[in-house]
Amino acid sequence: MTTDPAAEDASLREVADELAVAGQLPRFLLMYKFAIEELMTKLRILSEEFDFVHQHDPIEHITSRVKRPEAIKEKVHRRGLGTDWVSAAGALDDIAGIRVVCPFVSDVYEVARMLTAQDDVELLRTKDYIASPKANGYRSLHLIVRIPVFLSDRVEKVKVEVQLRTIAMDFWAAVEHKLSYKYRDSVPPDFAGELSAAARTAADLDRRMAALHERIR
Ligand code: GTP
Ligand code: MG
Repeated sequence: MTTDPAAEDASLREVADELAVAGQLPRFLLMYKFAIEELMTKLRILSEEFDFVHQHDPIEHITSRVKRPEAIKEKVHRRGLGTDWVSAAGALDDIAGIRVVCPFVSDVYEVARMLTAQDDVELLRTKDYIASPKANGYRSLHLIVRIPVFLSDRVEKVKVEVQLRTIAMDFWAAVEHKLSYKYRDSVPPDFAGELSAAARTAADLDRRMAALHERIR
């Protein structure tokens, strides 16, 4: 497993910078940073221990981010959750986000199972876009979990969106995101069809890799 601490630090710095104007990083955003750190530790332990026991690391890499205050504000307003965006932000599920990229589809489900089996990890919701891909072809397993964060004077339960996917799914999602952004105003006519065809190719690649994995196991 590899992680990208530079990207993590950068995203947290960005949050801190934007809020520097307001004085300090609000405690509520700090809590999401702590929740991410706790889940990252859990995932690192699962990765290393599973590798030790099974000679197979189920995690290829992990990234994380705390949603930028501007994006939180925008989403709170878009969803009509109120004008005090800081107190309304608790209604959002994706202020803290972790993306776990796995070699095989079986790893995605195994990591999700091991994580949600832990006593202090409460599973609030599952969206299985692998079993039921989105119309555009998007595949991933999304979990909304809640974990306790132990602070100096209290315990806060904090929600985190965990996206689990294979390397092939991650490749498709990353490129789709770039393309969709680029063609936001002028989508070429065959765009959607080509995208979902590419997603099927990625799914086929996952199946072929799984078959190879089975053969050498
Ligand atoms: P959001 O309000 O966008 O968070 O959507 P939602 O609450 O309906 O949740 P959903 O599970 O559908 O999507 C949450 C996240 O999954 C998004 O913010 C993206 O990170 C990712 N995602 C969902 N659909 C797509 C997609 O079609 N393409 C890509 N690249 N990512 C997607
Ligand atoms: Mg989102």
